[in-house]
Amino acid sequence: MTKTDQPQVIIFDTTLRDGEQSPGATMTHEEKLEIASLLDEMGVDVIEAGFPIASEGDFAAVSEIAKRSKNSTICGLSRANLKDIDRCWEAVKHAKSPRIHTFIGTSPLHRAIPNLTMDEMAERIHETVTHARNLCDNVQWSAMDATRTEHDYLCRVVEIAIKAGATTINIPDTVGYTAPRESADLIAMLLERVPGADSVIFATHCHNDLGMATANALAAVDAGARQIECTINGLGERAGNTALEEVVMAMKVRNDIMPYRTGIDTTKIMNLSRRVSSVSGFPVQFNKAIVGKNAFLHESGIHQDGVLKNVETFEIMKPSDIGLMAKNIAMGKHSGRAALRAKLKELGYELADNQLNDVFVRFKALADRKKEVYDDDLIALVADEQTNDAHEFLQLKKLRVICGTEGPQEADMVLSVDGVDHHIDATGDGPVDAAFNCVKMLFPHKARLEIYQVHAVTEGTDAQATVSVRLQEDGRIVNGSSADTDTIVASTKAYINALNKLIVRRQKTAPGDDVKTITYHGE
Ligand code: KIV
Ligand code: ZN
Repeated sequence: MTKTDQPQVIIFDTTLRDGEQSPGATMTHEEKLEIASLLDEMGVDVIEAGFPIASEGDFAAVSEIAKRSKNSTICGLSRANLKDIDRCWEAVKHAKSPRIHTFIGTSPLHRAIPNLTMDEMAERIHETVTHARNLCDNVQWSAMDATRTEHDYLCRVVEIAIKAGATTINIPDTVGYTAPRESADLIAMLLERVPGADSVIFATHCHNDLGMATANALAAVDAGARQIECTINGLGERAGNTALEEVVMAMKVRNDIMPYRTGIDTTKIMNLSRRVSSVSGFPVQFNKAIVGKNAFLHESGIHQDGVLKNVETFEIMKPSDIGLMAKNIAMGKHSGRAALRAKLKELGYELADNQLNDVFVRFKALADRKKEVYDDDLIALVADEQTNDAHEFLQLKKLRVICGTEGPQEADMVLSVDGVDHHIDATGDGPVDAAFNCVKMLFPHKARLEIYQVHAVTEGTDAQATVSVRLQEDGRIVNGSSADTDTIVASTKAYINALNKLIVRRQKTAPGDDVKTITYHGE
């Protein structure tokens, strides 16, 4: 069977909805638009862009993503009530290809919360799916907690949803409870028993609570599901969702036993993984399959020797398959703008001229300070450029820190606040604390620092540090990041980056907006 004859598996990405639901993974409006456009370019079939009724911010993001979409279908989530569905349609209707996704919890535990009898719930499903289908030709219905729903009842409600006009039926493993054989059997059972099942697409939506989300999704595909719901880096509530990169690469690498095709350009995976990690503030674990820092590293002597003699001894896929270029010394201080542009293109970044100029200036400064500039250094520079805008309300102009064994540590800072430079010094419990205290004195706020993380970009004592921070103020959550060879500078810039986002968020949203108070069972 040639690749084009193979059944296609629809890739439904929910990074911006289920992924963003991870506590703290909130993204700004601009970040959501950027991620959606990267997903669209990568060939994702359906982008679940948000939950339009959840907040004004979600609604605005879904509408704008719908307007800008090029190839992907844009989907919004809605509970099983007419108001949610109408709001969802208002947001997705701008897309070339819109989809309404409506869901209700069908298991005994979920039925008990809205206190609906089996018959009442069946009636609600009929009414809401019919309503959605009257608005949109493309309707997905999900039986939340399907894997803990009685089979007879699941068959009954799936049949109702199909008859009411659903075109995709999603069978979520909401709490990550199932296992591969059971996941496959459930899809096979529905395909066999439900009248009209062959006229719709069955989807699998798995959570990773027992570490089986990828295996469960692939097992469901083997049994006949033709849509996988997943997120970049497996981002998502609790232990996360099925990771897009894992299912896509599994079907590519083991196409001999999983003969399915997807429309994904896998060479764009690494760039997306880095961007999602940076904007969500969720680092990728080093040994994460496919996109972890160590996924293609061979530390032990035996492995290194084998890989050098024949790369296939220990590598089942090429780093370049996911857009990871060989790690080499990228550039030196004599490299010019054209070389930088070419190198960045090779790494998957096509920058506008003004952005390239800014990155070039920073690259030269870095090359002066650092002996060798690696690909990862350039990636950190670009990420920093994309995150830290020169026109922000707060800008770090100068920082000097005195630290060492004799306290107190002291910071001396010039910070531009709304275009005016202010000078201050402060002490603290360590140099980072002293620098943050300077910022707090010049820009008083009550935001609480929830996360502060430092990572070295490359090896060596002259390595750049990337720092991410998460702040929370009145229920608004923001993530900031920055990179620099000086860890204290990177930390201060990351803190300032988060504050700049907070300032924008204060203007655009009500307090508590990021703490999604919306419940899955409410009206
Ligand atoms: O996990 C789940 O059940 C969901 C539904 C809302 C589709 O995310
Ligand atoms: Zn989910």
